[in-house]
Amino acid sequence: MSVRINPSILAADFAHLATELDRIASADAVHVDVMDNHFVPNLTFGLPVVKRIGEVTALPLDMHLMITDVDLWAPQFAELGAFSVTFHAEATTEPVALARRLRQIGARAGIAIKPGTPVEPYLEILEEFDQLLIMTVEPGFGGQSFMDSTMPKLAAASAAVKASGLDVWLQVDGGITETTIEVAARAGANTFVAGSSVFGAESAAAQIALLRFIAEQHSH
Ligand code: DX5
Ligand code: ZN
Repeated sequence: MSVRINPSILAADFAHLATELDRIASADAVHVDVMDNHFVPNLTFGLPVVKRIGEVTALPLDMHLMITDVDLWAPQFAELGAFSVTFHAEATTEPVALARRLRQIGARAGIAIKPGTPVEPYLEILEEFDQLLIMTVEPGFGGQSFMDSTMPKLAAASAAVKASGLDVWLQVDGGITETTIEVAARAGANTFVAGSSVFGAESAAAQIALLRFIAEQHSH
């Protein structure tokens, strides 16, 4: 089964972003964490920086929006040409309408849930999404420890996706290392975000290859 490894540039050296993007050329996409210091207690970057990232890399942009005003911003990242735009379920009361808007613009529509958010309501509307992101840490910061407690939600989502026959990608984000990626792959994830484990490695390419190899061994 094919797996995707999406390094998160939250762990990159922001003073040398173009060079950092070159280090992860063998990845499937670059995961871009947008934070607004409101939805999460941290602040990263917005549209102009993401636009330049898109211009200097051939990698698809996998946007993860940890922001409150998704109805305003999410479509703008899609219009910028992002491959995938994932917004948080906790940030909108109209996830279906927003997902439809994103797809209409031409992006893959993703929905993310925090560790404490139940997955069941979103399994009822799976056909509206291309990706479901099960956060494996509390969103906001890189370098945190993987929460095993989120794995039952992933297993439930994996079963629902299989039963539906839909091709909804299951993404995990937070604390993914060569150890935890096995746990997440076994529970049904096929798209893996890794920040510190990739950018903190001496060879990012070797680390991407290692993560990919382990995930492939254990994915189903
Ligand atoms: C956290 C972000 C993650 C973060 C992951 O809120 O969504 O994408 O960069 O970093 P690591 O892999 O270091 O846990
Ligand atoms: Zn993220």
